[in-house]
Amino acid sequence: MEEITNVMEFEEIARQKLPKMVYDYYASGAEDQWTLKENRNAFSRILFRPRILVDVSNIDLTTTVMGFKISMPIMIAPTAMLKMAHPDGEYATARAASAAGTIMTLSSLATSSIEEVASTGPGIRFFQLYVYKDRNVAAQLVRRAERAGFKAIVLTVDTPRLGRREADIKNRFALPPSLTLKNFEGLDLGKMTVDKTSDSGLASYFVGQVDPTLSWKDVKWLQTITLLPILVKGVLTAEDAKLAVQNGVAGIIVSNHGARQLDYVPATITALEEVVKAAEGRVPVFLDGGVRRGTDVFKALAMGASGVFYVPWQIGRPVVFSLAADGEAGVRKVLQMLRDELELTMALSGCTSIEEITRNHIITDWDPPRSLPSSRL
Ligand code: FNR
Repeated sequence: MEEITNVMEFEEIARQKLPKMVYDYYASGAEDQWTLKENRNAFSRILFRPRILVDVSNIDLTTTVMGFKISMPIMIAPTAMLKMAHPDGEYATARAASAAGTIMTLSSLATSSIEEVASTGPGIRFFQLYVYKDRNVAAQLVRRAERAGFKAIVLTVDTPRLGRREADIKNRFALPPSLTLKNFEGLDLGKMTVDKTSDSGLASYFVGQVDPTLSWKDVKWLQTITLLPILVKGVLTAEDAKLAVQNGVAGIIVSNHGARQLDYVPATITALEEVVKAAEGRVPVFLDGGVRRGTDVFKALAMGASGVFYVPWQIGRPVVFSLAADGEAGVRKVLQMLRDELELTMALSGCTSIEEITRNHIITDWDPPRSLPSSRL
């Protein structure tokens, strides 16, 4: 196999290895997939303003998330059903995150249970929650996550229904019968089959089980059943960022669900600044969507930097594709490559720590033109 030199190359290997139905499920965005392309394109419109002649012989990538020190501002976003990618699925991902010294968020719709993932060894883990119509199911999941030592609940709020992923509809996507949604085993909610409707199996499952009435009052309800910090995932506007803060969330994740929900929403990196401003430094803001390069990580940090306040973010598909290509070793490699690229970007921009990355290190095509200092005019 030819040397892999960047994160994106894993996608082609995964495409060749995986059944079409599985690859399409992982890769697809919603409808025209405009937002899917825009999540990447928007990063490419942000340019650097590097500083020179700074001693960069020592670069510190560590940062703190919700009180936990992690090795770098790169974490693993929740992605469903990882055993379709590799038999070690969620275990391999958890181990790779732990080895890299960073956080993994486990999906509600995982093919390994909360307890199984906890038993892979030490590591800082968050649990992503979909709230089912039967509130006891959500309450039980939260309790199990607490008991298994997970450190936060990531409440996904952009999925009252599933976005239209047309490849999944064409492929009649369903979880292969050898696998189950392990967190729901015994609750009769673990199987996902294609029914007589024309939707994908996952879309039908959502309509059947996931609660479309979810609202801010349920965020309050969640706070009454757990002491774990609650992050809301799927915020794209200043209005909702303000409501999130008012409703006492512990963190905000700017996400468009990897462009799999509402098509024609902006790229997350475009929406980030308004959310960060509206949050006024009162809660940490995170980002996911389209992050494939160390330069992307730097740009997101620069866009979010405001005082002592950073934007670590998360990666979804790179983990899935590297897992499919090479199991735990693949995920480790993706995390290491992004780490190395971020370190290089910092060196070439004159930054020796995450705190030193500022808005002045980048320029976007929506920034006002910069005027030269008056002495030069
Ligand atoms: C996801 N995402 C997701 N989000 C969530 O809250 N619960 C879930 O179960 C899943 N499942 C899932 C499966 C797959 C295959 C993908 C690609 C994505 C969304 C995920 O957490 C994250 O928002 C995006 O993946 C980030 O975009 P990138 O990095 O994939 O571009």
